Amino acid sequence: MVGVDQAVREEAAILRQQLNDHNHLYYVLDDPSIPDAEYDRLMRKLQQLESEHPTLKTADSPTQRVGGEPLEAFKSVVHEVPMLSLDNAFSDEDLLAFHRRVTERLKLSGPLAYVCEPKLDGVAVSLLYQDGVLIRGATRGDGSTGENITENVRTINSIPLKLQTDEPPSLLEVRGEIYLPRTGFEKLNQEAKAGGGKLFVNPRNAAAGSLRQLDSKITASRSLEMAAYSLGRIEGLQPPKTHSKTLVLLKGWGFLINPHVEVAGDINDCLSYYQKLLGIRDQLPCDIDGIVYKVDDIGLQQRLGFVARAPRWAIARKFPAQEEMTQLLDVEFQVGRTGAVTPVARLEPIFVGGVTVSNATLHNQDEVVRLGVKVGDTVIVRRAGDVIPKVVKVVLEKRPATAKEIIFPLHCPVCDSPVERVEGEVVTRCSGGLVCSAQRKQAIKHYASRKAMDIEGLGDKLVDQLVDQNLVTAVDDLYGLKLDQLAGLDRMGNKSAQNLLLALEASKTTTLPRFLYALGIREVGEATARSLAKHFGHMAALQQASQEDLQEVSDVGPVVAHFVHDFFAQSENVEIVHKLSDAGICWPDIVSDGDQLLPLAGQTWVLTGGMDVMGRSEAKEKLQQLGAKVAGSVSVKTDCVVAGAGAGSKLKKAEELDIRVLDEAALLEFLRKNDLF
Ligand code: IVH
Repeated sequence: MVGVDQAVREEAAILRQQLNDHNHLYYVLDDPSIPDAEYDRLMRKLQQLESEHPTLKTADSPTQRVGGEPLEAFKSVVHEVPMLSLDNAFSDEDLLAFHRRVTERLKLSGPLAYVCEPKLDGVAVSLLYQDGVLIRGATRGDGSTGENITENVRTINSIPLKLQTDEPPSLLEVRGEIYLPRTGFEKLNQEAKAGGGKLFVNPRNAAAGSLRQLDSKITASRSLEMAAYSLGRIEGLQPPKTHSKTLVLLKGWGFLINPHVEVAGDINDCLSYYQKLLGIRDQLPCDIDGIVYKVDDIGLQQRLGFVARAPRWAIARKFPAQEEMTQLLDVEFQVGRTGAVTPVARLEPIFVGGVTVSNATLHNQDEVVRLGVKVGDTVIVRRAGDVIPKVVKVVLEKRPATAKEIIFPLHCPVCDSPVERVEGEVVTRCSGGLVCSAQRKQAIKHYASRKAMDIEGLGDKLVDQLVDQNLVTAVDDLYGLKLDQLAGLDRMGNKSAQNLLLALEASKTTTLPRFLYALGIREVGEATARSLAKHFGHMAALQQASQEDLQEVSDVGPVVAHFVHDFFAQSENVEIVHKLSDAGICWPDIVSDGDQLLPLAGQTWVLTGGMDVMGRSEAKEKLQQLGAKVAGSVSVKTDCVVAGAGAGSKLKKAEELDIRVLDEAALLEFLRKNDLF
């Protein structure tokens, strides 16, 4: 590098190393060791050096992660070692038959160790490192030829641009799966919806679509991740003798290895591993479509070899599919607590995502229009981690001539009051309020629910009966119910009736936040109820609060203030609150700092960037005094991020995850309101 001073070159090398190390701590280990502002300072310094001396811009430079110039087209890449696929097993019997084939071929009788890995549902990739530096990324393509997507893989933070070792192999090919975690997928679709763009059906399609971008800046914006699962070519280093040791080696070089990978001592452990993963599948941060079992011993793998395009030493045990096709039999309209009229698809029952589904939400009128769905259509139903099944697509080729348009009702299907759609809202609502028995039922179900008054034994079916038989019109009537009224109801014996009366009695002693939440005021969730309770302390003060007073509360904006004010401006609601208080509902005043009464109890906050007025540790202490847990990194569990001067990647992540962000001034104001500043 003629012309660039040795000292400058060294400085750039040190900066690259530091940034790559911090990147690994942040994105792979989830354990950052420096503040974001410091990371950003190091990055700016390196960018500055590289712009002053362009020859310093190396392939492993972290400045290259932001995406480069758009490409005209992808070039093809030939895989010297073909990228194989896997045979599938759909039952325990299939897996045991696989094991039998393996042991017979190897003439083994004792136990055989397998590595069990989640089968990530994304896009397979090959990464090539020369002397430890990432030089090429390629898709699997047809297994022999893929596409060169180097510019795009460089933007993925969990992919090391440079191996974390001083003695890298001269050539290394790492294979793995690029995928989009569910939060990234939801966010991408939300944005597409808001912008009128096309929605992705599932995270795998979204990952594939993101990698197929000729403009790597788009890929960079899509929070993709990569987990490594095997070696391809390796030169200049003896590879480990087992697959499990290979994964340990890859981890040491800086790759992300799925945390659920386990070694099973024998095939029975493989069977229990399947059950264990199936049980937590819905809670995982990303979609997995099964388990891959691999013979751990590489020597044995080599003896087993391949058939056609799949190895004999590995198999994919598939989970029940998360998407299936079925027929839309009818659409019914359900009325919720706030009067929202939701179209619900009645489906030909279908086994999807591990359960039989016969209903799926169609959300609202806009969604029905977007899907272009008609009654009689064949549709794709998806049930993934989010439990509520969704219709994601219409199979137009299968549309019958008899398919019928979905007509939205002009009157509430329950109480016949006109429905209305407020401008700017997507939801259609019944205007009947408490006249509408559907809204009343939902209000009572909400009141009784676990996070509200927690009335055990007051289930949905019972509420339906109580309202249908005019025993209960509003929540206060619950406390006037008599044993003989309850015992006479369908599927209620004397014992259950007695238990319900005891549960109703027990519910009378509660907390102000629970009671406020139980009232079912629009947009007042648990957290807002807690903030309102903490701020006003007493019900009377809250009832009298003006919209301006309400907006003084930390997380109350004009919309919530309007709903709260409106609720207490209606005499029926005030009357219900009085009647509940007459029935004996009570709570301790909010003066003690019993944990659950603290305004930030149960919340996780993250502090990032520099603070001018108050030091970070002081701010942390004060947030903890208010009940918050203060964490070091941003995740879906974060409730709020305080972003001081120079905040960088944590702020970006908070924005990506749609997490509330406060600046230093807002934090100080919040602390002031809580008498801590
Ligand atoms: S091993 C020869 N391990 O599944 C072994 N594959 O049908 C080949 N996949 O295209 C792959 N997670 O995209 C392997 N832990 C894992 C995997 C995995 C997902 C995908 C991969 C491949 C397909 C095989």
